[in-house]
Amino acid sequence: MDIEAIKTQIESEIQSINSPQGLEEFRVKYMGRKGVLAQLTGVIPTLPVQERASFGQQVNALKEKILLIIKEKQGSLSGEKLMTQKGSGCDITMPGIARELGRLHPISQVMDEICTIFSRMGFSIVEGPEIETEFNNFTGLNIPLDHPSRDAFDTFYLKSNSKLLLRSHTSPVQIRVMKSEKPPLAAVVPGKVYRPDATDASHSFMFHQVEGFMVDEEITFSDLKGTLGLFAKAVFGKDIKMRFRPHFFPFTEPSAEVDISCIICKGKGCSVCGRKGWLEILGSGMIHPNVFKHVGYDTKKYSGFAFGMGIERIAMLKYGIDDIRLFFENDLRFLKQF
Ligand code: DAH
Repeated sequence: MDIEAIKTQIESEIQSINSPQGLEEFRVKYMGRKGVLAQLTGVIPTLPVQERASFGQQVNALKEKILLIIKEKQGSLSGEKLMTQKGSGCDITMPGIARELGRLHPISQVMDEICTIFSRMGFSIVEGPEIETEFNNFTGLNIPLDHPSRDAFDTFYLKSNSKLLLRSHTSPVQIRVMKSEKPPLAAVVPGKVYRPDATDASHSFMFHQVEGFMVDEEITFSDLKGTLGLFAKAVFGKDIKMRFRPHFFPFTEPSAEVDISCIICKGKGCSVCGRKGWLEILGSGMIHPNVFKHVGYDTKKYSGFAFGMGIERIAMLKYGIDDIRLFFENDLRFLKQF
């Protein structure tokens, strides 16, 4: 049998095959148990010894060729099938449907932005648990037993363990960090906090805060002012004005609330700032010596500042959003704008 002639025959035969059944018949004809290849292999022992090896090699090469041809044909047949199945299945000639890209939630974006600003100033980013001890959330922060925010109504306590609660601010992470590290240190703490408030346009039982603090020898209120001034300009623009208003927090002394000039009316007075020209953005102060005592720091040697802000509030001011509930409703029409 002439192997070259068989090759030519195969090539012309495969051209005319246009169905899987036709291809199967082709396969059986050449590769089947009684097919052409089997016959060729059967011939080998009858050949003169010196011809057997080279004939065997030609048969093997032919077999490889047939296998390849079959595979190629299978591929083109299934492609053609897809192409021609318009209406009934999929038409691969149709333009594709682009998948929509997801995006970060506006709260995540603002939180990332705030953390990036502080990390450029040398603050490290630390996280703490949402279930906290009463000690870290209150006692360690110099919030006395009879302080109103200690009241069970203002904090979610765990049913199973009255010493554990859902943290009502990110400040307890100050205690965690200071207990495990010695000054100098500077950290920001982003995270979720919980308070049993009734939900309305400006309250949510869960929201986000970023806490920040720095401790070293000779840290002063000027360091706090400088740090927060850079922060406010980075978030709200370089023309923003900032003021410190005396306030009370148990864990800082002196304490201050920080306002920025209203970003809507630029300080003239409008409905957003309640005609005051100023918007409160955070609480801050110099860390109270009692807090240092709780973590075993030498109050004569070290001083530090701390601040805490609500992310939703910052995001609402930055983007002019008037209802906190929008952040938690997962309405894509809202989320897609960021
Ligand atoms: N923990 C306070 C709150 O949740 C915010 C705060 C105020 C944090 C002053 C501070 C601070 O570190 O110095 O309302």
